[in-house]
Amino acid sequence: MSVKRVAITTGGGDCPGLNAVIRAVVTVGKERFGWEILGVEDALSGLIDLDYRGPRGNRWLELEDVRGLLSRGGTILGTSNRSDPFRFVDGARETDVSDRVMENFAKLGLDAMVSIGGDGSMAIAQKLIAKGMKIVGVPKTIDNDLGATDQTFGFDTAIGIATEALDRIRDTADSHDRVMLVEVMGRNAGWIALHAGIAGGADAILIPEIPYRAEAVADMIVARRASGKNYSIIVVAEGAKPQGGDVSQLEARLGEMPRLMGAAHRVAAALEDHVGSAMRVTVLGHIQRGGSPSTFDRVLATRYGVLAAQLVHEEQFGKMAALRNGAIVAVDIAEAVARPHLVDPSSQIMNQARALGISFGE
Ligand code: F6P
Repeated sequence: MSVKRVAITTGGGDCPGLNAVIRAVVTVGKERFGWEILGVEDALSGLIDLDYRGPRGNRWLELEDVRGLLSRGGTILGTSNRSDPFRFVDGARETDVSDRVMENFAKLGLDAMVSIGGDGSMAIAQKLIAKGMKIVGVPKTIDNDLGATDQTFGFDTAIGIATEALDRIRDTADSHDRVMLVEVMGRNAGWIALHAGIAGGADAILIPEIPYRAEAVADMIVARRASGKNYSIIVVAEGAKPQGGDVSQLEARLGEMPRLMGAAHRVAAALEDHVGSAMRVTVLGHIQRGGSPSTFDRVLATRYGVLAAQLVHEEQFGKMAALRNGAIVAVDIAEAVARPHLVDPSSQIMNQARALGISFGE
């Protein structure tokens, strides 16, 4: 069988670079392989229900649709983290509508799909592959927590945004002699906190991989003050948790992961008794997900898109484009979802951060 009709979808939380992948897949798919390419609306929503009509609609993509997309944040296809066909929310319950997705895929005459997503989307892809769908994956997420790849696209842009925020926070922290806590995203991985924290000169970085002791952070603040340093900056990953405690999160809504919320405020409350000076909390939130992708992410996303198109053409399904030692290679989607990519507390970068005097609340 030679591939003629290919679907493309963006799933889960958006991140800078999604449009750059779409542009690369459409350009290579059309110009080199002569495909028809269907942009599926809002993750898999447009395949779960062919009458689904969000603001965009499923649409056949032409070269002019992807012109000028390289620098645009977000995704022209829309995305959703509520379109898992195996846990589809129908009224007050979750149902499995994956057979319907398979039928709709066949109805549209589609041969294969490029799925751009993070761990959730790759896990869904893996289950659809088991049902016979031909899928190639592209790893996205600002969290950088997907296995089998050295880096996901979106991460570099997010740490750039978080670092710029820390630079701004430093000025006002210094003026007011304050302890400033900055909460960054990342779910259960500390990559954003670690990289932005090092780049932004943080005094403490609290990551999910190392449950913290508030007393250790307080000791650092007191020691800095004793040596004439009037302010301190603490980066808190949203998934950070105290020793013996759990993450700070809201109750999960049907069909969704629980939302992490309140980690930095909880650290501030725990420090209150130990630290005399004023404290302020800034939660960066979705600012980290928007805007134009960095140069690194544009190149990475583009290279991922080109390889994904080639893999579909070569009918190498069940594979995901990945970055390994500077090269873009094909790995098994199964490998990507087998284990999350987390910060290793005894890695070189962590020990170098410790050598600088950065506290991890240990
Ligand atoms: O996975 C990306 C991410 O931004 C996480 O860092 C964060 O926990 C989550 O998505 C937020 O999701 P939502 O956009 O649904 O609030």
